[in-house]
Amino acid sequence: MGDRVVVTDPRGRRHVLVLESGKAFFTHRGSLAHDDLIGQPEGSVLTSSGGTTYLAMRPSLSEHVMTMPRGAAVVYPKDAAAIVGLADIYPGARVLEAGAGSGSLTSFLLRAVGSTGSVLSYERRADFAETATKNISKFFGGRPAQWTLVVGDLAEATDLPPVDRVILDMLAPWDCLDAAAAALEPAGVIVAYVATTTQMARFVETLRVDGRFTEPQASETLVRTWHVEGLAVRPDHRMVGHTGFLVVARRLADGAALPAKRARPAKGAYGADYDGPASSHPDEPAGSDDAASTERPRRLGRASAIPKRKGRLP
Ligand SMILES: C[S@@+](CC[C@H](N)C(=O)[O-])C[C@H]1O[C@@H](n2cnc3c(N)ncnc32)[C@H](O)[C@@H]1O
Repeated sequence: MGDRVVVTDPRGRRHVLVLESGKAFFTHRGSLAHDDLIGQPEGSVLTSSGGTTYLAMRPSLSEHVMTMPRGAAVVYPKDAAAIVGLADIYPGARVLEAGAGSGSLTSFLLRAVGSTGSVLSYERRADFAETATKNISKFFGGRPAQWTLVVGDLAEATDLPPVDRVILDMLAPWDCLDAAAAALEPAGVIVAYVATTTQMARFVETLRVDGRFTEPQASETLVRTWHVEGLAVRPDHRMVGHTGFLVVARRLADGAALPAKRARPAKGAYGADYDGPASSHPDEPAGSDDAASTERPRRLGRASAIPKRKGRLP
């Protein structure tokens, strides 16, 4: 009763049901009584009044996040899996996250840290915090004990507890760098998930300028599903072409400075046309590849010196 079940018809179409005694699931292929499902083991196959068979199982977390109500856009399972891996999240880890949005990524984080870890989520919109709470409670059968949700802006948070990992999924993750750096233990991992190349570049350059983090790594995760049937073995015609980019770095110990990079920036990378955050590159003055480029990039100190454009795409 009240459990969510996914029923899949022979054509692979899935329907999510919330089981309730006396109710029925109706399609043009007949009806399926909820009472016939209640008490059955997962993986059972039931036949509707119209003779169509349905495979019944509880939704996996991936299925849950793809079908649950959304306030904000969710992190897809492929990216959540990459985040858990690249952020090196383990049972017992203390994770700080913002924003919780619809609660998709939070659910994957809660599972990864397990009952001995903790997830502290910040979400600045109360309505999204409520959606996340409902979605997470529905999946876990109640509010997980290892989860704390704060309705507020992480960029303005003070007195954060020490954490092992920081995960940012928001428009302007650079605004939260001071909070992240204050909370992260030395060698702790920070991961930002951003939707556009301009956000990715700005976050990477901001991390470099900041000086409290290792050289960031940027990536995206493409998953291509395949049709496998006899001799017809080929990629599916459709795929999710784009979701977002991941930027990963680690916190240096206080007072530590990264050894100077041995590789020079690409020619012109910080030339006259570049106007984002930039650290000094003594080996490669801006515009050195181009006699006409005399303008130098802005030399900035820490993240706080970077102009903030809250809530807007860069
Ligand atoms: C794309 S959504 C997050 C989706 C979420 N990770 C999920 O998988 O369902 C981005 C969220 O970040 C929140 N947000 C943006 N900046 C924030 C900040 N500085 N502090 C807290 N929340 C923030 C927004 O209100 C929004 O709900």
